[in-house]
Amino acid sequence: MRMVEIIAKKRDGGELSEAEIRFFVEGYTKGEIPDYQASALMMAIFLRGMNEKETVALTMAMADSGDHLDLSSIDGVKVDKHSTGGVGDKTSLILTPMVAACGVKVAKMSGRGLGHTGGTIDKLEVFPGFKVDIPTDLFFRNVKENGISIMGQTKDLAPADKKLYALRDVTATVDNLSLIASSIMSKKLASGADAIVLDVKTGSGAFMKTEEDSEALANEMVSIGKGAGRKMAAVVSNMDQPLGLAVGNALEVKEAIETLKGEGPEDITELCYKLGSKMLVLGEKASNEKEAREMLEDAIRSGRALEKLAQFIASQGGDTAAIYDTSKLITASIIREIEAPVSGYISSIACSEIGMCSLILGGGRVTKESDIDLSVGLVLKKKVGDYVNKGEALAVIYANDEAKCREATLRFLSSYSIGDEEVTHQTLIKKEIG
Ligand code: URA
Repeated sequence: MRMVEIIAKKRDGGELSEAEIRFFVEGYTKGEIPDYQASALMMAIFLRGMNEKETVALTMAMADSGDHLDLSSIDGVKVDKHSTGGVGDKTSLILTPMVAACGVKVAKMSGRGLGHTGGTIDKLEVFPGFKVDIPTDLFFRNVKENGISIMGQTKDLAPADKKLYALRDVTATVDNLSLIASSIMSKKLASGADAIVLDVKTGSGAFMKTEEDSEALANEMVSIGKGAGRKMAAVVSNMDQPLGLAVGNALEVKEAIETLKGEGPEDITELCYKLGSKMLVLGEKASNEKEAREMLEDAIRSGRALEKLAQFIASQGGDTAAIYDTSKLITASIIREIEAPVSGYISSIACSEIGMCSLILGGGRVTKESDIDLSVGLVLKKKVGDYVNKGEALAVIYANDEAKCREATLRFLSSYSIGDEEVTHQTLIKKEIG
């Protein structure tokens, strides 16, 4: 088989066979196929698309390019959750202890943030001493004994995707449905869960900007997972504005703790109940979503969900003091209100721009190796549909550098549109699959 012929076939709109796709993935992972040929194939796929059969073949080949985590020694149905990434998305931090408190075993590998989106692993490092790179025997022991462990993705998990994603990032080939679906599902399948709940974001802060594209992505991933024998469910949720109010690592941890105490913003609370209900049903802990929701509400009300977070953080070496007193969380030196320049209704927020503000403040990663400032970010005071008076706070900014604070404030102000017309509040959950 010759790589140039595979590229030409896709360039001309042909269907790649499973053997051709495996040849490419295996050769690229081993370093036998150079980046320039892989780039050409990615662009050909981006422009010509792939059908479902090809997408499944690419997913399975990437999943098989490294280790498969074998979770079979852990009793019960293991349920994973994945979000396609967004701004202010701290759901994993809330959801995993919530469902673990209801008996679902959480054995999760999570990633770090890149660009304008945040990552669970960075947020967990807000707890001093917390270790993400734990040995797999400790990971398994924690899941068996406490029902929950989260570790950083190992380099041996779907290495083909790791290489290809980095390549797509710099060759303008990220936002293609088949490539995103195969990238996410290859990692999820290799992570070994029996059931997977997907939160596919849609809107200005998401990879998929339209509801149609997001729904198609959700359907494709559900279909790939089912084809691989996994139980699947998905929601398409709004990312036209940040989720919750806090954006930035320590600020999001604070909001997650408040949500676990039953005092969080309504949208993030609702999303966690919705995703959590699906996880409990797929995990066979509840027979329907209504019953699951009642169990989750009880886990919050009784304090069991918060206790589960504390147990999990302590089991990986983290200091839990901030869970009981959030004033102990790391905080920035400059805390300042951003005032509304005019009175009116918030008609829209350029969501990814809010993520960019956090990046400017030092809270996000420009490259995978960047160090991040965990204390900086923003807490929104107004969201789409709210009325604001001139001079009233739109948000509070947390910074450690005056120049960055000024730059982020200007960028923040240009991301908010304020008008005279009354605007309805946005719907959070756009679609449910399964
Ligand atoms: N997240 C991934 O893991 N892969 C993509 O292609 C896009 C988002």
